[in-house]
Amino acid sequence: MRLRLLLLTITAAISALTATAGSTSHTFTAGDKTFLYDGEPFVVKAAELHYPRIPRPYWEHRILMCKALGMNTICLYVFWNIHEQQPGSFDFTGQNDLREFILLCQANDMKVILRPGPYVCAEWEMGGLPWWLLRYDNIRLRENDHRFIDSVKRFEQAVASQVGDLTVDKGGPIIMIQVENEYGSYGTDKVYVATIRDTLRSLYGDSVLMFQCDWSSNFLNNGLDNLLWTINFGTGSDIDEQFAPLRQARPDSPLMCSEYWSGWFDKWGANHETRPADDMIAGIDEMLSKGISFSLYMTHGGTNWGHWAGANSPGFAPDVTSYDYDAPINESGQPTDKYHKLRRLLSRHNGGNPLPDIPQPIASATVDTVRFCLVAPLSDNMPVAISDSTLHSIEHYGMGYGSVAYTTTLPDDIAAGTILTVDEPHDYAQIFIDGHYTGHLDRRLGEKTLTLPAVNKGSRIDILIEAMGRINFGRAISDRKGIVGNVSLTSTDGVTTDLTDRAWKVTLLPDSIGFYRSMSFRDIDTVSDRQDGRLPRGVYRATFSLERPADTFLNFESWGKGLVYVNGHALGRFWEIGPQQTLYTPGCWLNAGENEIIVFDIVGPHDAVTYGLSTPVLDRVNQSVMSSTATSTVPDIGAMTHVATSTFDSPSGWQQVTFDSSISARWLCLKALEAFDGDTCASIAELYALTPDGTRLPREQWRVVYTDGNDTTDGNHTPDKIIDLQESTHWASAPGTPMPHTIIIDLGGTCDIAGLQYLPPVVTGTPGAIKKLEIYTR
Ligand code: GLA
Repeated sequence: MRLRLLLLTITAAISALTATAGSTSHTFTAGDKTFLYDGEPFVVKAAELHYPRIPRPYWEHRILMCKALGMNTICLYVFWNIHEQQPGSFDFTGQNDLREFILLCQANDMKVILRPGPYVCAEWEMGGLPWWLLRYDNIRLRENDHRFIDSVKRFEQAVASQVGDLTVDKGGPIIMIQVENEYGSYGTDKVYVATIRDTLRSLYGDSVLMFQCDWSSNFLNNGLDNLLWTINFGTGSDIDEQFAPLRQARPDSPLMCSEYWSGWFDKWGANHETRPADDMIAGIDEMLSKGISFSLYMTHGGTNWGHWAGANSPGFAPDVTSYDYDAPINESGQPTDKYHKLRRLLSRHNGGNPLPDIPQPIASATVDTVRFCLVAPLSDNMPVAISDSTLHSIEHYGMGYGSVAYTTTLPDDIAAGTILTVDEPHDYAQIFIDGHYTGHLDRRLGEKTLTLPAVNKGSRIDILIEAMGRINFGRAISDRKGIVGNVSLTSTDGVTTDLTDRAWKVTLLPDSIGFYRSMSFRDIDTVSDRQDGRLPRGVYRATFSLERPADTFLNFESWGKGLVYVNGHALGRFWEIGPQQTLYTPGCWLNAGENEIIVFDIVGPHDAVTYGLSTPVLDRVNQSVMSSTATSTVPDIGAMTHVATSTFDSPSGWQQVTFDSSISARWLCLKALEAFDGDTCASIAELYALTPDGTRLPREQWRVVYTDGNDTTDGNHTPDKIIDLQESTHWASAPGTPMPHTIIIDLGGTCDIAGLQYLPPVVTGTPGAIKKLEIYTR
């Protein structure tokens, strides 16, 4: 297998080197209702792949899998933050070799759609933006703030210096270049979008076709006259309905679904998401029958190695390590049932030509139990702390990724029942008093307060915080890590003492293999004390030997929360809550002979052991560890005030309720009484509250704190879908449970609201679209 891969890589490298030499210039343009390649009608059948999510030795395998599926194009994002990890210092080598990836596409006769951001979303840390932009306190990201735009120009210049000669007019495979990404989901700012367009135009010239992608509901907000417009939507959507506004705005434009979502991404603490293969295929069949181009996002998702997984917002919903996406080619590059079904369809849309053979799968194997014999407890390995007189996020101290401990001493005795408020901990805080674990605050759950025991003046308090991926979607992408606000204590009689501006010690724990390896390890048998049945927080090291390396899935079910490195390659995060319990470990990163594995566990393992499975575990939520130690307050439904009863006119599109007068509320409760389809299910794609002047209230602080039940058949319809900003996803009540269905939302603070906007599910038939609704507040 290794030899075959090596040969593949060498052949590809030779063909890649020769690919541009002597290659002829072509044209790719938008004609009358169709794309034209060298003047001939052309339907784009693109497979979305992200080179940083695939081990480099497997790049060509994945490209060939897409070709054998019947695709003619590879669509890819460029992730700014992996290429420019420090300002002005660029890396386009190895795993980051964008040019080589594009040449490999060309060598295999695949066209390329380039999506160089600068923002990409993609469930990737901060949507691809580098963390160091956040060193400026008030930087306006994705706007015409000169500090942002200057950095964008430097990055786009660097990308163009790699691939600027690979556009189709210059003999390369790049047929189209995307300007920004779904700007309509961020704001309305044509001047900014034009800045990005002009930057790319100046770098790639006037011949290459440039486009914008957005949703059917908002593409007009930022649509620029001299760009092609494409629409993004997912499996299950009504295709004609999705394109109707574009057909009306530009009757002669070629149509393209620039992201047709094959599946969806997973977040920690919720079940694995899936989308039915038959629905996906029906949509593609319909588009091809109508001559509509598409890009299948994702055709192969791959993996969010290391700390690169992003997080969704509003609220904070960190994405898991696997980016399997329920895509036709699974995380480890194997064809799924979806793949075979889609291939059958695409072979019928291939002009009568047979499709290439499916490449041999890369072998997978089990790995015997590996016991970790060495441990470096965190408590013995804390680096030298920085002194500060107030609290700052980690960016202020020059660290982008990792964990941080903030330490101070208590100014006074405190009585049992005193509340500690950390506003806000980004993202998972553990509180220790004089070294003893006292509780944790999980940002996913909106936790900011912890009830403390009685503690004496002068006791040490440590707030140890693990930063997870930065939010990649919506206005909350300025997602600083560590403590981003204040810390205070509130006594049992309600007196609050602010602890923010006082002497703090700040200890940085960067996520880097060098840092973990530098720790002092000792024999695991020397560790006797366990807290809550766990071994110490810290770094664990083991070696294991293999005869024949193959892909495997290392199991971390007995561990707490942390990150894994194998032979220096970052595999990604694990977290006992699931749903992902194994980490994809590519055979190309394993050695015949000895292998090293390093695990940083910030919670502590129950058992320091792993083993490799030949198939992944991506859907096992561990309910037993989902409990919280935070202080929580969800109001009783009976104690809320009825505000309005409303009956909607239509089961599809945005619906609005206006209250008789505006209401001041912290909690919003919706009671669905009746659905348009007469069935028992209620569903909500999106919900907004309106301010008295009719604008939408920001939802960054919102959390859905109660529903009377959810469709838990899979992770597709969780309550956060109500406020996840994604029109294509929706919450659904538990199947078969009778109306009414109730949800309660914590607005995060008291707000004046004068109405609501409700979007029923954006799927064919709008199942569960609410007809009659009661609204309560408190
Ligand atoms: C949008 C974005 C993509 C990705 C998908 C969801 O379409 O453009 O980058 O985030 O949503 O997977």
